[in-house]
Amino acid sequence: TDDEAAGIICPHFHDPTVFERFVMYCSDQAHSSVEKGAMLSAIRLRKLKSTRGFLGNYSVTAQTLRDAIKEDRERGYVPFMFLATVGTTCSCGVDQVDELGPICAAEGLYIHVDAAYAGTFCSV
Ligand SMILES: Cc1ncc(COP(=O)(O)O)c(C=O)c1O
Repeated sequence: TDDEAAGIICPHFHDPTVFERFVMYCSDQAHSSVEKGAMLSAIRLRKLKSTRGFLGNYSVTAQTLRDAIKEDRERGYVPFMFLATVGTTCSCGVDQVDELGPICAAEGLYIHVDAAYAGTFCSV
């Protein structure tokens, strides 16, 4: 295409029918910037219900993530990303990356960890 020849990167380089079926996940505790980002990217976002578990904090369980991926594949969607949070702003919820990461790897989902404030403590 002309765009391609000019070096312009646009989503139509991908198969638009796949792009339209993308769905990403995050915890219902995740920062509002996640929802904003999904809206700006025109990506379907499913907020997964968190429960109190690990350390008494709110987190998405492995089963919740697995069930959502399965349900959405059955609906014809393409689950492609899980946005985990280590320290949500509203409740300091922590998604258990050690459990959820391997599910993402096995299911072919990217995982991004939002550790915007609590993650700093993990790195010092
Ligand atoms: C957990 C978390 N994620 C994301 C953000 C958004 O950060 P920014 O607006 O700098 O991208 C914040 C900001 O407070 C946050 O606390």
